[in-house]
Amino acid sequence: MTTLSIGTNDLEEILALAFHENDEKRFIPVSSVHVSGVNYYNIGDVGFDFLRSLYESGLKFITKATINPGCSDLIDVEWQGCDPNLVRKQMEVVKIFENMGAIVSLSCAPYFDVNIPQRGDHLAWAESSAVLYANSVIGAWTNKESGISALASGILGKTAYVGVHKKEGRLPELVISYEGSISNEVEAGALGFAIGRIVEDKIFRLKSQVVFNRTNLRHFLAALGTSSSTPMTYIDRITPTEGCEVLAREEISISRDEVQRVIDRMSSDKEPEAYVVGCPHLSHDELSNLIKCSLSHEGLPIYAFTSRSTPNLQFAHGHNNLKIIKDSCVLWCGLKSMRYKTVATNSVKAAYYLKNVFGLDVKLVSLSRA
Ligand code: F3S
Repeated sequence: MTTLSIGTNDLEEILALAFHENDEKRFIPVSSVHVSGVNYYNIGDVGFDFLRSLYESGLKFITKATINPGCSDLIDVEWQGCDPNLVRKQMEVVKIFENMGAIVSLSCAPYFDVNIPQRGDHLAWAESSAVLYANSVIGAWTNKESGISALASGILGKTAYVGVHKKEGRLPELVISYEGSISNEVEAGALGFAIGRIVEDKIFRLKSQVVFNRTNLRHFLAALGTSSSTPMTYIDRITPTEGCEVLAREEISISRDEVQRVIDRMSSDKEPEAYVVGCPHLSHDELSNLIKCSLSHEGLPIYAFTSRSTPNLQFAHGHNNLKIIKDSCVLWCGLKSMRYKTVATNSVKAAYYLKNVFGLDVKLVSLSRA
């Protein structure tokens, strides 16, 4: 492999791709970056070689940098039964990030503990579910970056002053009104997925009487980020609006039937051989609730994905069917090695990727119903 020499000018050019012809070419400092493109299944050798070139060019993060999950538990390696070469490659990817100064967080929910932004902070985050959470729940300011532009921002300490970094770039273009109810995280995800296909990259206000708990909210945002590229939404009673009225001229209604159609289309009626939960990564409370739910007393294996920073990972004691996996996305090498054909999940985002990337049949099941 030939190592490319990459300089800060090259990285500025990457950030400058965000400018449109008439934009003033300004940058703004960021207080943190969150980098996606860590999973070796996604980046492959091409991505790995690019990362190595960055590191060998002497570039390092000058801003707080956290990283998305990879494809393997890097602490409890053996039991997964994964191809050792793949695990080695994943470890090398993570080592490069670490050597460049990133925090080895390996989490897609960094806002819980390792990278908690404040309202009004300017960030350069990739990972759509975390971007939507940062803007729409916390009130931070970040565009939906690519893995590469978030990397470049972390090294340069700044990002292009475009999109949601400007007040006028945060205005909603649409109102989506939903009069139905949401009774669990699967329905919340299906609502997000259905809305995402309508809004595409547009910011919108959700007008509804739905009262989201935090789990349902995260599933809604994760699925919204799967079917759209919008960086934020305004949700009544949740999104900080600094006292402004959130208006938009166009209003589109979405019905309960459309939510059900997403579930029907995505969900297989085959019997699952295992459960996959934790997309996005489980919080400490969600992990605690998983232990209490009836699912953990059934016989099927449950693979629960969370961050290595989630406190008290000894949850699984007395639940032999429950495996807690750290550091990894649900696109996990262990799932490949076990050769399941059908799995169940409570996450619409996981259903989408497990089906389209791993080719699995996926049944959508809420943990409240399991
Ligand atoms: Fe996280 Fe992977 Fe889901 S990065 S949000 S577990 S697809």
